[in-house]
Amino acid sequence: MKDRFLVTGGSRLRGAVKVSGAKNSVLKLMAAALLAEGTTVLTNCPEILDVPLMKDVLEGLGCTVAIEGSTVTITTPAEVSSDADFEAVRQFRASVCVLGPLTARCGRAVVALPGGDAIGSRPLDMHQSGLEKMGATTRILHGAVVAEAEELHGAEINLDFPSVGATENILTAAVLAKGRTVLDNAAREPEIVDLCLMLKAMGAQIEGEGTSTITIDGVDKLHPTTHEVIGDRIVAGTWAYAAVMTQGDITVGGIAPRHLHLPLEKLKVAGADIETYENGFRVRMDHRPIAVDYQTLPFPGFPTDLQPMAIGISAIAKGTSVITENIFEARFRFVDEMTRLGADATVDGHHVVLRGVDQLSSTSVWSSDIRAGAGLVLAALCADGTTEVHDVYHIDRGYPKFVEFLQSLGATIERVSD
Ligand code: UD1
Repeated sequence: MKDRFLVTGGSRLRGAVKVSGAKNSVLKLMAAALLAEGTTVLTNCPEILDVPLMKDVLEGLGCTVAIEGSTVTITTPAEVSSDADFEAVRQFRASVCVLGPLTARCGRAVVALPGGDAIGSRPLDMHQSGLEKMGATTRILHGAVVAEAEELHGAEINLDFPSVGATENILTAAVLAKGRTVLDNAAREPEIVDLCLMLKAMGAQIEGEGTSTITIDGVDKLHPTTHEVIGDRIVAGTWAYAAVMTQGDITVGGIAPRHLHLPLEKLKVAGADIETYENGFRVRMDHRPIAVDYQTLPFPGFPTDLQPMAIGISAIAKGTSVITENIFEARFRFVDEMTRLGADATVDGHHVVLRGVDQLSSTSVWSSDIRAGAGLVLAALCADGTTEVHDVYHIDRGYPKFVEFLQSLGATIERVSD
């Protein structure tokens, strides 16, 4: 757990990489397997730590789970347990996505609250009120959210904010509820569409996925299916920013470029040359990027998960950028680490002003979450000398084979275990 990366700046990254399935999709799809008795097969799964953690959660509920390379096979019994194991769930936030499927399948769900998070407060009020509109009662008891419903029924639900997690839990409950659910101000993320495609292949009746209004007609029973996880747009976006920051040339495969429309547009404004293909893109850059402003918003806005990369590119850009974080209030904690690398940054509430510098300067930095950790590695690639990036277990949770991919692109980076 105490591994660190030694990153030496100065290389221009060149070559080709292929991204695997999205972290923010695979865990929800694994949870959705709870909805149908029998064997569900997921392909193109990323080899990241959260997948075996979700395996533990599902096994605690009575499923049998096998992980073989990028294929995850889940066998769900006729009766699943309603109480998710406290220790298994507490380890990672995404485990809360079993709440919807368990309430639908068992009429009861007990899921430990994920607790504090480095990127900001992550309440479950919209998850709870959505289930309550469908006839469940919910409460917080002994550190867990408890949902109970004799029978879930369809409902009209308007989310205060297009929350990804709340949309997922409402969807996975509504597919087995009696009657029609209309979910307004739903999240439109590609991972929501991926979940809906899998649910539809399982026999669910859903319309409107990818728009703000999703209509779900509940069915009595779902059946298992085989599904390919969509490519990870955040990992793909990280490679795109790496290409521009290091003035390199990277071709990224395994991703629909429309899932990264705005992040790639921003790179074009910064001066990059971008070609898009059906299932990938190529990013080339031969000069210092021009400063661009960013503000994070729900999809199709600029993803909060790429905000550390936006800060990284702005730190070395020509000119001044203003970056606004609208989703997670504590995400700017990472800016202090960027300042240690020589970035000229001023934080004011949920804005940060960056005056680009010619070069960053190597030091020791600490990752606080997955994306901040990856952002620090990219920044270290633009620093003189060798930077030590600590607490890289965060990065391992979201970026399969990150060091190997970076080495294959010509970066000077190694993993050191103490
Ligand atoms: C998911 C992703 C995360 C990504 C985020 C936004 C996973 C495991 N995580 O997180 O990587 O950054 O989407 O794209 O898939 N909120 C409430 N009440 C609620 C639910 C959310 O106030 O009941 C707030 C949150 O505090 C936050 C905002 O809504 O400010 C967005 O949260 P949400 O979209 O739910 O993100 P997650 O699903 O937690």
